[in-house]
Amino acid sequence: MEHKRSSFGGTLGFVLAAAGSAVGLGNIWRFPYLAAKDGGGLFIIIYLVLALTFGFSLLTTEVAIGRKSKQGPLTAYSKIKKGWGFLGVLGCLVPAIIMPYYCVIGGWVVKYLFVFLKGEGVSAANDGYFTSFITGEYEPIVMMAVFFFIVAFVIFLGVNKGIESMSKVIMPILIVLVIGIAAFSLTIKYEADDGTVRTGLQGLKILLVPNLEGITAGKFLNVLVDAMGQLFFSLSVAMGIMIAYGSYVSDKANLSKSINQIEIFDTVVAVLAGVMIIPAVFTFMGQEGLDSSGPGLMFISLPKVFAAMGKAGNVIGCLFFAMVLFAALTSAISIMEAVVSSFIDAFKMSRLKATVLEGVIALAGAVVVCLGYNKLYFEAKLPTADGVQILDILDYISNNILMPIVAIATCILIGWVVKPKTVIDEVEKSGGVMSRKKLYVVMIKYVAPVLLFILFLKSVGIINLG
Ligand code: PHE
Repeated sequence: MEHKRSSFGGTLGFVLAAAGSAVGLGNIWRFPYLAAKDGGGLFIIIYLVLALTFGFSLLTTEVAIGRKSKQGPLTAYSKIKKGWGFLGVLGCLVPAIIMPYYCVIGGWVVKYLFVFLKGEGVSAANDGYFTSFITGEYEPIVMMAVFFFIVAFVIFLGVNKGIESMSKVIMPILIVLVIGIAAFSLTIKYEADDGTVRTGLQGLKILLVPNLEGITAGKFLNVLVDAMGQLFFSLSVAMGIMIAYGSYVSDKANLSKSINQIEIFDTVVAVLAGVMIIPAVFTFMGQEGLDSSGPGLMFISLPKVFAAMGKAGNVIGCLFFAMVLFAALTSAISIMEAVVSSFIDAFKMSRLKATVLEGVIALAGAVVVCLGYNKLYFEAKLPTADGVQILDILDYISNNILMPIVAIATCILIGWVVKPKTVIDEVEKSGGVMSRKKLYVVMIKYVAPVLLFILFLKSVGIINLG
């Protein structure tokens, strides 16, 4: 007997779960940095235009593939078109690779939250604090395990009782925290050693005002590709996630509307993260502070900023890392669900078995990633960076190589093989017309694959737009 497939209880649950996936570390540690680097408002305008065209098309495609096939990513593509099963394998490999290292980073966030909760945030501002923590033998593994077990427990509870219920609680809290911290960031003021006074509002200008100084065609193209890469990662497409979540959406739900809401949520949080981070970093560290992104920004620069804030810093630090933890948890949950739903659908496993199987794979991988900073330490060279460890290599394989390939292949499958009508019909199944339909067709057939191909060439280091 076919057992009943899980589903979201309502559209709100789906929107919040998908937004929870989309809002993650990328919004917090990459969007603000790219915006500050790429001409502030200029980057933001390009990002918004791309979100409404390119992002909308990719997101719609994946959610529709999920809902139409009612399968996890591993088997969804072959259900859409015989012979395309290989794309499912790639699409399921991406979350399987990301999960281990995402849990390691999640563990770092747990550790910093603990430190700030204990009121010891100032110690995290010391030089070398972060390196000495991640090179430690046991602590990073323990913290990773804490993060992992929360994620695994939610997955075990299932789509409805786990993912949906949790998103409905966490996402509203997250939005309140983001707005609160962003508002605080605008009120700060600091007098540097050389007597210059910098304010949060000056930092806000760097983020929002378009800066066209020294802009050339090449630089513009670079901003465009940065914005596209960020959007692509931020919407959680090409990771199997939106297919898995789409497969749990009711046939009656209005997909166009939900997709717009997910995009708005993700973009608003990204911009607010900018309002939170850029003014704070600029005020306390000046222009040079704006050069860091990724782990360096979150675990090294920001603790210094919190320390410089004095007493309030520890409280803000607590709220900040709690917010990051929420964002990371809902993203990790979506990534694990993409793999677990694949196992359930492809091998007819129970949810418990699938969760345990993916759990063992993820934990084993995550321990290896942790050991990459001590026992297994080495320095490798990638086309995009030098002196990297296991975490960066996994990140490179999934984000720079596999994700663009999956996305390009998906565009070819939908745009040219089964035709865009497949997706349009799916979106319109519940009545109502799909908005931006013509745009969608042009995007999925021509523009998106070309843009993605340029992104791919850049991410593997074949072209350098410098
Ligand atoms: N969209 C997430 C972000 O912006 C990316 C992500 C999702 C990464 C899920 C891993 C897991 O951070």
